[in-house]
Amino acid sequence: MCGIVGYIGDKSAADILMDGLKQLEYRGYDSSGVALMETDKIDIYKAEGKLQNLNDILFMNRDKIVGSTLGIGHIRWATHGAPTVVNAHPHTCNCGGVAIVHNGIIENFKELREKLEAQGCTFRSQTDTETVAHLIAKKYSLCKDLTEAVRLASKEIDGAFALCVMHKDHPNKMVITKRNAPLLVGIGEGEFFAASDVPAIIKYTKKAVYLKDNQIATLTRDDMQIIDTDNNSIFFTPEILPWEPVALSKMGYKHFMLKEIHEQPSVVRNILAGKLHSIDSEIALDEVKLDKSTLKNLNRIQIIACGTSLHAAMVGKYIIESFCDIAVDVEASSEYIYRKTVTNENTLVIGVSQSGETADTLTAIKQSKAKGSHILIITNRPDSAMAREADSLISVNAGIEVSVAATKSYMAQLLSFYLLALKMAEVKGSLDDSLLKTLKSELMVLPQKLEQILVHKEDIQQCAKIYANTKDFIFIARGVNYPTALEGALKLKEISYINATGYPAGELKHGPIAMLDESMPVLSILMKGTVYDKILSNSEESKARNARMIALTNSTDDKLNTLFDFVIRIPEIQEYLSPLLAIVPLQLLAYYIAEFLGKDVDQPRNLAKSVTVE
Ligand code: G6P
Repeated sequence: MCGIVGYIGDKSAADILMDGLKQLEYRGYDSSGVALMETDKIDIYKAEGKLQNLNDILFMNRDKIVGSTLGIGHIRWATHGAPTVVNAHPHTCNCGGVAIVHNGIIENFKELREKLEAQGCTFRSQTDTETVAHLIAKKYSLCKDLTEAVRLASKEIDGAFALCVMHKDHPNKMVITKRNAPLLVGIGEGEFFAASDVPAIIKYTKKAVYLKDNQIATLTRDDMQIIDTDNNSIFFTPEILPWEPVALSKMGYKHFMLKEIHEQPSVVRNILAGKLHSIDSEIALDEVKLDKSTLKNLNRIQIIACGTSLHAAMVGKYIIESFCDIAVDVEASSEYIYRKTVTNENTLVIGVSQSGETADTLTAIKQSKAKGSHILIITNRPDSAMAREADSLISVNAGIEVSVAATKSYMAQLLSFYLLALKMAEVKGSLDDSLLKTLKSELMVLPQKLEQILVHKEDIQQCAKIYANTKDFIFIARGVNYPTALEGALKLKEISYINATGYPAGELKHGPIAMLDESMPVLSILMKGTVYDKILSNSEESKARNARMIALTNSTDDKLNTLFDFVIRIPEIQEYLSPLLAIVPLQLLAYYIAEFLGKDVDQPRNLAKSVTVE
């Protein structure tokens, strides 16, 4: 996945494209490039690595590029071909007439490439995208119409794509199209902006059109025409984007991740303010558009997600089953889409995604929608492709998350699951009233407890220093905190590159215990409640194998100081709610270890925040 931008107007295209690419860096940062229209030719500038490298190149060419008012740009997360300059977009045809940027994957690129090579095209890169540049050029050479060339080419390509195309003979034209990848057009006065996502254009205009699959838009400085692949004209009505331009700032924190970890108490406060008014009033969750009798009679839920969202989904399963007596399956979207699933109109399907764009989850959602299931989407992006598929939409309202490693959005997803599970329990009458009230009252003081953890972050910083130089890390937990162990391990490996794994504590003895010796840190998540003693026993077993023992606990028991080398203490909380607190020290631990090791915390290698390819 990648990010693409395009501009046609009367301003400096290079400035607008670079500004847009900066906002899309969350989609990848392996390489970047722009194509700028000059008189009678297109100039291409590309750089490997971070966007700053391209910025430096453009700065050196400032005088040459400043007059260009039409261009396209790209930020890459490599799929086909290494992240080199030659594989960086924009790609061109052999004569340099056509330049394109692409987000997605062209699945039939090998066949197309062979065909085009047989017709005399010479390929310079290993990318799937270059085939499209040659294909459009071939079509153009016959019809001499850029829109028609893109239309004909799009009929021959399989897979996912969002494309911006320009041609040296058309200094007043840009053609864009998409299938299964996001693309929108911002409409200005005498100018148009194309982008993979809103942040790239919102500074310039709020008036926009989301292009639909297989639509082709032709943009000139004063007009936009949309057709479909059968050449039918498409009538469109621009919408006003409900966004304000946000100056993304670290607010004095060293990294966005640290800032976002610290925003969690206020994220929780905001969510609760709208949905949980008192322990006696019903949870306000009108977003769930299932009538009471359907909710009451639901007997199967499937939750589909990837990465951190998958861990939130696992907590969701645990609490929905515990509070509501409904069977819940959780599955990684990438597994769900390539097998026969028992999903039908009686299944509630919940898709969880920070970005709302993750290709695997989007495909899974579309598949289950086609089977007639009610689709509930839990996302941080109510304007996303997934949100547009939703029958019910819970917008988690965590605010823009910049750091690739998800923190506050995980917290917001978890809280949304708690509110959903409690709401369903209220409707079903499946939860003991006093437990319902306890859970609500504990949720209401959650922000203060989160703040207490953040106040004592130096303890975790100290722990990070002690364990930063380890090669491996094991996290163990049971019950509702097993997903916390997985998420703690994921955070650590994402940003520090330490080989971290989460296990159900009871599984340790069935294999992983063989890895334990005096070099292996084992972090036990020991929350007071049903499985506390069991995890304590599993910790003893690990200690007996000389592992370096760390406890994350809400117990005040002094004896833990003997069993464990390091004890991280957090406030007490009802066991079911403990994942909401337990994750925060693990986010901080990962952060401080990565920072201590000098890693690129906000943009870890090989990752992207929004994964728009399957
Ligand atoms: C990427 C990100 C992860 C994220 C996952 C799912 O892999 O690096 O942080 O959890 O995608 O993303 P989603 O937007 O669907 O929650």
